[in-house]
Amino acid sequence: VKKKLLVVANWKLNPPTLKEAHALLKNTKRALPRARSADVIICPPLPFLFALAKGERSLAFGAQDVSAQIAGAYTGEVSATMLKSVGASYAIIGHSERRALGESDAEVSKKLRIALDEKITPILCVGELERDEQGSHLAVLADQLTNSLASVLRGEIAKIIIAYEPVWAIGRRAEDALDAHGVHGTVIFIRKILSDRYGREYAEKVRILYGGSVEPGNVHALVRESGVSGFLVGHASLLPASFAEIIRASAGHA
Ligand code: PGA
Repeated sequence: VKKKLLVVANWKLNPPTLKEAHALLKNTKRALPRARSADVIICPPLPFLFALAKGERSLAFGAQDVSAQIAGAYTGEVSATMLKSVGASYAIIGHSERRALGESDAEVSKKLRIALDEKITPILCVGELERDEQGSHLAVLADQLTNSLASVLRGEIAKIIIAYEPVWAIGRRAEDALDAHGVHGTVIFIRKILSDRYGREYAEKVRILYGGSVEPGNVHALVRESGVSGFLVGHASLLPASFAEIIRASAGHA
């Protein structure tokens, strides 16, 4: 049996108020197909997480980041334990928008460790800033993966979800993003890096998602041809009709 695809909504710094967040969740749920065969995870802004996740059984929730600290004098930080206690079962870690603010692979590795210890499923983001003819992005990806996964043991690798998000393809239109063929090649490469480090048997179990302008316009080809286990969706997750179409395509209903 083919495994269910996983679709993660990354709302980023949207919407502005709790009231609008409730409305967005309600409209999203209303638009989703009734008989779903894709798993859906919503990653709202932190102040909304508790209120949205409370009593919600049909969807799972995740945080958009997690602290590299467990407790103590760290003003402004939010720990994995806290996130777990308010309903997050997943956490995006190492998103390029956080890496752009200075987050290093070493910090990402620390965050992965803490999330795993807290039984939060990490969604580790990797992706190159740009591509050239020489394929230098592959070396960038290999480095990011090796360094970010430094704290992760062989027996744990299957618990990590990897989101491949080429930074140049984020926040664009579907036709300017990476095509299914390009995604497919990169997914094979990522699995090879995992396989070299952890062994093939373990590497095969890792779910690899694609993110970067996934929209109704490219999701069908991505489902058919890219070999990914699902998607990390930014701007299209703020539009319930678009997001629902991505889910339908991922569930094989479209
Ligand atoms: P996008 O964002 O779908 O708006 O490109 C994806 C992401 O940054 O996770």
